[in-house]
Amino acid sequence: MSAMCARMPLMENQNTCDRRHFMKIGALAATAAALPAGARAAAPAAEHGLADLPYAYDALEPSIDTKTMEIHHSRHHAAYVNNMKSALEGHAGLASLSLLALQSVISSVEDPSLQTTLRNNAGGHWNHEFFWNIMTPPDRSGSPGDALGTAIHDTFGGMEEFKKAFAAAGAGRFGSGWAWLIVRDGKLKVTSTPNQDNPLMTGIVPEEETGTPILGIDVWEHAYYLHYQNRRGDYMDAWWNVVDWASVSACYDSAVS
Ligand SMILES: [Fe+2]
Repeated sequence: MSAMCARMPLMENQNTCDRRHFMKIGALAATAAALPAGARAAAPAAEHGLADLPYAYDALEPSIDTKTMEIHHSRHHAAYVNNMKSALEGHAGLASLSLLALQSVISSVEDPSLQTTLRNNAGGHWNHEFFWNIMTPPDRSGSPGDALGTAIHDTFGGMEEFKKAFAAAGAGRFGSGWAWLIVRDGKLKVTSTPNQDNPLMTGIVPEEETGTPILGIDVWEHAYYLHYQNRRGDYMDAWWNVVDWASVSACYDSAVS
Protein backbone atom coordinates (compact mmCIF):
# COMPACT_ATOMS: atom_id res chain seq x y z
CA MET A 1 0.00 0.00 0.00
CA SER A 2 1.13 3.50 -0.65
CA ALA A 3 -0.73 6.72 -0.12
CA MET A 4 -0.17 10.40 -0.39
CA CYS A 5 -2.80 11.94 1.80
CA ALA A 6 -3.48 15.60 2.32
CA ARG A 7 -5.25 17.38 5.08
CA MET A 8 -6.83 20.68 4.24
CA PRO A 9 -4.77 23.56 5.62
CA LEU A 10 -6.92 25.88 7.69
CA MET A 11 -7.98 29.08 5.98
CA GLU A 12 -6.56 31.30 8.67
CA ASN A 13 -3.20 29.56 8.33
CA GLN A 14 -2.91 29.67 4.58
CA ASN A 15 0.33 31.54 4.64
CA THR A 16 2.10 29.52 7.25
CA CYS A 17 4.36 26.82 6.00
CA ASP A 18 4.40 24.99 9.32
CA ARG A 19 0.68 24.17 9.07
CA ARG A 20 1.21 21.78 6.21
CA HIS A 21 -0.43 18.43 6.71
CA PHE A 22 1.21 16.26 4.14
CA MET A 23 1.32 12.64 5.10
CA LYS A 24 2.69 9.63 3.40
CA ILE A 25 1.45 6.35 4.79
CA GLY A 26 3.23 3.13 4.05
CA ALA A 27 6.10 2.50 1.74
CA LEU A 28 6.73 4.80 -1.18
CA ALA A 29 8.86 3.85 -4.10
CA ALA A 30 12.23 5.49 -4.30
CA THR A 31 11.83 8.97 -5.65
CA ALA A 32 13.69 10.70 -8.39
CA ALA A 33 14.80 13.18 -5.78
CA ALA A 34 16.10 10.27 -3.66
CA LEU A 35 14.41 11.64 -0.57
CA PRO A 36 12.73 9.56 2.12
CA ALA A 37 8.94 9.92 1.99
CA GLY A 38 8.70 12.21 4.99
CA ALA A 39 11.45 14.50 3.78
CA ARG A 40 9.92 14.54 0.33
CA ALA A 41 6.54 15.61 1.71
CA ALA A 42 8.14 18.42 3.67
CA ALA A 43 10.51 19.47 0.91
CA PRO A 44 10.16 22.92 -0.61
CA ALA A 45 8.03 22.78 -3.74
CA ALA A 46 10.98 23.93 -5.81
CA GLU A 47 12.82 20.74 -4.80
CA HIS A 48 9.79 18.42 -5.07
CA GLY A 49 10.67 16.55 -8.23
CA LEU A 50 9.06 13.83 -10.27
CA ALA A 51 8.91 10.57 -8.32
CA ASP A 52 8.99 7.15 -9.89
CA LEU A 53 5.62 5.45 -10.00
CA PRO A 54 5.05 2.99 -7.13
CA TYR A 55 4.49 0.26 -9.77
CA ALA A 56 5.57 -0.51 -13.31
CA TYR A 57 4.04 1.25 -16.31
CA ASP A 58 2.28 -1.97 -17.31
CA ALA A 59 0.99 -2.76 -13.82
CA LEU A 60 -2.47 -1.25 -14.33
CA GLU A 61 -3.25 -3.21 -17.49
CA PRO A 62 -5.85 -3.74 -18.82
CA SER A 63 -7.65 -0.84 -17.11
CA ILE A 64 -4.95 1.65 -18.12
CA ASP A 65 -2.61 0.65 -20.90
CA THR A 66 1.16 0.75 -20.63
CA LYS A 67 1.76 3.42 -23.27
CA THR A 68 -0.75 5.77 -21.69
CA MET A 69 0.88 5.36 -18.29
CA GLU A 70 4.35 5.93 -19.70
CA ILE A 71 3.41 9.09 -21.61
CA HIS A 72 1.19 10.39 -18.83
CA HIS A 73 3.91 10.08 -16.20
CA SER A 74 7.14 10.71 -18.10
CA ARG A 75 5.89 13.51 -20.33
CA HIS A 76 2.70 15.13 -19.01
CA HIS A 77 3.47 14.91 -15.31
CA ALA A 78 7.12 15.73 -15.91
CA ALA A 79 6.10 18.84 -17.82
CA TYR A 80 3.99 20.07 -14.90
CA VAL A 81 6.96 19.59 -12.59
CA ASN A 82 9.39 21.40 -14.87
CA ASN A 83 6.99 24.26 -15.56
CA MET A 84 6.31 24.70 -11.85
CA LYS A 85 10.00 24.80 -11.02
CA SER A 86 10.66 27.38 -13.70
CA ALA A 87 7.76 29.53 -12.49
CA LEU A 88 9.03 29.44 -8.89
CA GLU A 89 12.46 30.80 -9.82
CA GLY A 90 12.80 34.24 -8.31
CA HIS A 91 9.87 33.68 -5.93
CA ALA A 92 11.63 32.42 -2.82
CA GLY A 93 8.61 32.70 -0.54
CA LEU A 94 6.43 30.51 -2.70
CA ALA A 95 9.31 28.19 -3.58
CA SER A 96 9.98 27.48 0.10
CA LEU A 97 6.47 26.15 0.73
CA SER A 98 5.78 22.45 0.46
CA LEU A 99 3.91 21.35 -2.64
CA LEU A 100 0.82 20.80 -0.51
CA ALA A 101 1.01 24.17 1.24
CA LEU A 102 1.52 25.87 -2.09
CA GLN A 103 -1.89 24.71 -3.31
CA SER A 104 -3.81 26.80 -0.80
CA VAL A 105 -1.92 30.06 -1.39
CA ILE A 106 -2.08 30.18 -5.19
CA SER A 107 -5.20 32.34 -4.98
CA SER A 108 -3.19 35.01 -3.16
CA VAL A 109 -0.50 35.28 -5.86
CA GLU A 110 -0.94 38.80 -7.21
CA ASP A 111 0.70 38.39 -10.62
CA PRO A 112 -2.10 36.94 -12.80
CA SER A 113 0.33 35.18 -15.12
CA LEU A 114 2.22 33.53 -12.25
CA GLN A 115 -1.03 32.59 -10.56
CA THR A 116 -2.28 30.87 -13.71
CA THR A 117 1.02 29.09 -14.25
CA LEU A 118 1.08 27.77 -10.68
CA ARG A 119 -2.59 26.85 -10.81
CA ASN A 120 -1.94 24.72 -13.88
CA ASN A 121 1.46 23.29 -13.00
CA ALA A 122 1.77 23.13 -9.20
CA GLY A 123 -1.81 21.88 -9.34
CA GLY A 124 -0.92 19.41 -12.06
CA HIS A 125 2.08 18.17 -10.07
CA TRP A 126 0.13 17.59 -6.85
CA ASN A 127 -2.86 16.07 -8.63
CA HIS A 128 -0.82 13.54 -10.56
CA GLU A 129 1.34 12.48 -7.62
CA PHE A 130 -1.84 11.91 -5.64
CA PHE A 131 -3.43 10.04 -8.56
CA TRP A 132 -0.52 7.60 -8.96
CA ASN A 133 -0.64 6.81 -5.27
CA ILE A 134 -4.33 5.98 -5.02
CA MET A 135 -3.99 3.37 -7.77
CA THR A 136 -2.51 -0.12 -7.59
CA PRO A 137 -2.40 -3.28 -9.71
CA PRO A 138 -5.87 -4.86 -9.99
CA ASP A 139 -5.04 -7.86 -7.82
CA ARG A 140 -4.32 -5.47 -4.94
CA SER A 141 -7.31 -3.15 -5.33
CA GLY A 142 -9.19 -4.51 -2.31
CA SER A 143 -12.16 -2.76 -0.80
CA PRO A 144 -12.83 0.23 1.47
CA GLY A 145 -11.92 -0.10 5.13
CA ASP A 146 -14.65 -0.31 7.73
CA ALA A 147 -14.85 3.42 8.51
CA LEU A 148 -14.78 4.53 4.88
CA GLY A 149 -17.22 1.79 3.87
CA THR A 150 -19.65 2.93 6.53
CA ALA A 151 -19.27 6.56 5.51
CA ILE A 152 -19.89 5.71 1.84
CA HIS A 153 -23.01 3.78 2.80
CA ASP A 154 -24.29 6.52 5.08
CA THR A 155 -23.58 9.30 2.59
CA PHE A 156 -24.54 7.78 -0.73
CA GLY A 157 -26.66 4.75 0.19
CA GLY A 158 -24.08 2.19 -0.91
CA MET A 159 -21.02 1.61 -3.06
CA GLU A 160 -22.91 1.39 -6.34
CA GLU A 161 -24.72 4.64 -5.64
CA PHE A 162 -21.39 6.28 -4.76
CA LYS A 163 -19.83 5.04 -8.00
CA LYS A 164 -22.74 6.45 -9.97
CA ALA A 165 -22.34 9.86 -8.32
CA PHE A 166 -18.59 9.82 -8.91
CA ALA A 167 -19.00 8.75 -12.54
CA ALA A 168 -21.55 11.51 -13.07
CA ALA A 169 -19.09 14.06 -11.73
CA GLY A 170 -16.41 12.84 -14.13
CA ALA A 171 -18.74 12.55 -17.11
CA GLY A 172 -20.20 15.96 -16.38
CA ARG A 173 -16.86 17.72 -16.28
CA PHE A 174 -16.79 19.45 -19.67
CA GLY A 175 -13.38 19.38 -21.28
CA SER A 176 -10.42 18.55 -19.05
CA GLY A 177 -10.42 18.13 -15.31
CA TRP A 178 -10.83 15.85 -12.35
CA ALA A 179 -13.55 14.17 -10.30
CA TRP A 180 -12.91 13.94 -6.57
CA LEU A 181 -14.13 12.32 -3.39
CA ILE A 182 -13.32 14.76 -0.61
CA VAL A 183 -13.79 15.02 3.12
CA ARG A 184 -15.32 18.36 4.00
CA ASP A 185 -16.34 19.16 7.58
CA GLY A 186 -15.93 15.47 8.37
CA LYS A 187 -18.37 14.40 5.63
CA LEU A 188 -17.82 12.75 2.26
CA LYS A 189 -18.63 14.76 -0.84
CA VAL A 190 -18.21 14.19 -4.59
CA THR A 191 -16.93 17.19 -6.53
CA SER A 192 -15.12 17.99 -9.75
CA THR A 193 -12.67 20.67 -10.85
CA PRO A 194 -11.63 22.00 -14.26
CA ASN A 195 -8.15 21.74 -15.72
CA GLN A 196 -5.59 21.17 -12.91
CA ASP A 197 -7.55 22.85 -10.12
CA ASN A 198 -8.10 20.74 -7.00
CA PRO A 199 -10.15 20.94 -3.78
CA LEU A 200 -7.11 22.22 -1.85
CA MET A 201 -7.13 25.48 -3.81
CA THR A 202 -9.04 27.69 -1.45
CA GLY A 203 -10.03 30.98 -3.01
CA ILE A 204 -10.01 29.41 -6.47
CA VAL A 205 -12.54 26.60 -6.37
CA PRO A 206 -15.98 27.33 -4.86
CA GLU A 207 -15.80 27.27 -1.08
CA GLU A 208 -18.37 24.47 -0.78
CA GLU A 209 -16.16 22.29 -2.99
CA THR A 210 -12.97 22.69 -1.00
CA GLY A 211 -11.84 19.88 1.27
CA THR A 212 -9.38 17.04 1.64
CA PRO A 213 -9.15 14.83 -1.44
CA ILE A 214 -9.12 11.11 -0.66
CA LEU A 215 -9.85 9.82 -4.19
CA GLY A 216 -9.54 11.47 -7.57
CA ILE A 217 -9.63 10.53 -11.23
CA ASP A 218 -7.94 12.36 -14.06
CA VAL A 219 -10.48 12.82 -16.86
CA TRP A 220 -8.16 14.69 -19.21
CA GLU A 221 -8.11 12.93 -22.58
CA HIS A 222 -4.37 12.30 -22.11
CA ALA A 223 -5.35 9.89 -19.30
CA TYR A 224 -7.33 7.55 -21.53
CA TYR A 225 -7.50 8.55 -25.21
CA LEU A 226 -4.93 6.08 -26.64
CA HIS A 227 -6.98 3.10 -25.49
CA TYR A 228 -10.49 4.44 -24.98
CA GLN A 229 -10.58 7.29 -27.54
CA ASN A 230 -13.70 9.33 -26.67
CA ARG A 231 -15.17 6.72 -24.31
CA ARG A 232 -14.52 8.46 -21.01
CA GLY A 233 -17.25 6.42 -19.33
CA ASP A 234 -15.59 3.13 -20.24
CA TYR A 235 -12.29 4.39 -18.82
CA MET A 236 -13.97 5.44 -15.60
CA ASP A 237 -15.75 2.07 -15.31
CA ALA A 238 -12.48 0.15 -15.78
CA TRP A 239 -10.59 2.47 -13.44
CA TRP A 240 -12.39 1.12 -10.36
CA ASN A 241 -10.38 -2.11 -10.83
CA VAL A 242 -7.14 -0.28 -10.04
CA VAL A 243 -8.25 1.92 -7.15
CA ASP A 244 -6.04 1.27 -4.12
CA TRP A 245 -8.74 1.13 -1.47
CA ALA A 246 -6.19 0.64 1.30
CA SER A 247 -4.60 3.98 0.40
CA VAL A 248 -7.94 5.72 -0.02
CA SER A 249 -9.11 4.36 3.32
CA ALA A 250 -5.90 5.52 4.99
CA CYS A 251 -6.46 9.00 3.56
CA TYR A 252 -10.03 8.96 4.85
CA ASP A 253 -8.92 7.89 8.32
CA SER A 254 -6.31 10.65 8.32
CA ALA A 255 -8.77 13.29 7.15
CA VAL A 256 -11.35 12.54 9.85
CA SER A 257 -8.93 11.94 12.71
FE1 LIG B 1 -3.14 13.84 -16.35
